[in-house]
Amino acid sequence: MRNLLVTGGAGFIGANFVHYWMENYPDDRLVVLDALTYAGNLANLAAVQANPHFTFVQGNICDQALVESLLLQHEITTLVHFAAESHVDRSITGPDEFIETNILGTYALLKATKKIWIDTPVSQGQPALEHRFHHVSTDEVYGTLSATDPAFTEATAYAPNSPYSASKAASDHLVRAYHHTYGLAVTTSNCSNNYGPYHFPEKLIPLVIINILHNKPLPIYGDGMQIRDWLYVQDHAYGIDLVLNKGKVGETYNIGGNNEWANINIVQEICHLLEKAFAEDKTLAHKFPQALAAIHQKTETLITYVKDRPGHDRRYAIDATKTNNELGYIPRESFATGIAKTVQWYLANEAWWQAVMDGSYQDWLTQQYV
Ligand code: NAD
Ligand code: TYD
Repeated sequence: MRNLLVTGGAGFIGANFVHYWMENYPDDRLVVLDALTYAGNLANLAAVQANPHFTFVQGNICDQALVESLLLQHEITTLVHFAAESHVDRSITGPDEFIETNILGTYALLKATKKIWIDTPVSQGQPALEHRFHHVSTDEVYGTLSATDPAFTEATAYAPNSPYSASKAASDHLVRAYHHTYGLAVTTSNCSNNYGPYHFPEKLIPLVIINILHNKPLPIYGDGMQIRDWLYVQDHAYGIDLVLNKGKVGETYNIGGNNEWANINIVQEICHLLEKAFAEDKTLAHKFPQALAAIHQKTETLITYVKDRPGHDRRYAIDATKTNNELGYIPRESFATGIAKTVQWYLANEAWWQAVMDGSYQDWLTQQYV
């Protein structure tokens, strides 16, 4: 039985991780610390809220005293750190929160864990507590690739290009330094783009699904030939599980599914999948009468090329050979099964995304630079 503190557990990946963990390790206790920013949503955790092994705490990771008290009160020995500002477009229009949460927030967590797990017991003549600080990072810290470059490995030099990726890179370096300097037992995972249930609809895949259902334009930045390497979110949780249970302290692990898509192609694929869903399930035309698929018209006509994102990285691709070989990591979901599940989830969970759309997300949309 372990006690885990999961930061950012009300967000997209954090919530999926909580569901994954509670299904696979039902004896463990989980405490989620989340500030409930625009991206945090308690509805993402509704299914586990009544579980006696689950506790939710609304609070900021920058609040070191709060983190220390949670570590002590819940006898936490494993921290899994998801909390972050995560949207590149927002980091371009307003980088301050990214510096605050991603860098200073991570720093506060490092200080709190070092104090409670190492400094306090040692000052009392005790050995440091057995512990693990797992830091969840991104492939975006490695910068951008050309079409022919080899994929990012753990040895690729950091070259972040957006305020988001720069803030994540800074936090990765702090985590590394706390291991080398103070002996904090850290691991870091750098994962490619995730997709799946609870994905906030400012991100490409859920945005496209929901816009198709509302008969709204599907915005493609620039020429649409930027490439992303997509992984089903539960496979990210599975990768973190393997790093926590089999990974070596002080190491970093790339997590990815070897699944590169140009943006325009993934948008066309989603158009096709929704048309297929409408053809197979006649009730969808009544549920979403605005959708072009409801009146048998081509969904792809909604594709609209818009101004490119400033500094837009051309290609990300993850080489996960180390994680595959050392931890036995093989994603469980193919892209075909993962994207089909995702489309079905959005079709079945209109109440979830309507509530998100009615909230602060609308304010952000009106300020967008595109
Ligand atoms: P998200 O934006 O959906 O969720 C972030 C969560 O963190 C939200 O619940 C939010 O309320 C919380 N949060 C933000 N600031 C906080 C603060 N100061 N204190 C406490 N909680 C705070 O993000 P996500 O897509 O789930 O990403 C989770 C992590 O995974 C991030 O660290 C991100 O960098 C990393 N990551 C994301 C992807 C991806 O494709 N989304 C890929 C690789 C890595
Ligand atoms: P996004 O989901 O924001 O993830 P990231 O920028 O972290 O990779 O975007 C994925 C890709 O899709 C990225 O190349 C930007 C592009 N994009 C669009 O073309 N149109 C959109 O409306 C959005 C949100 C993204």
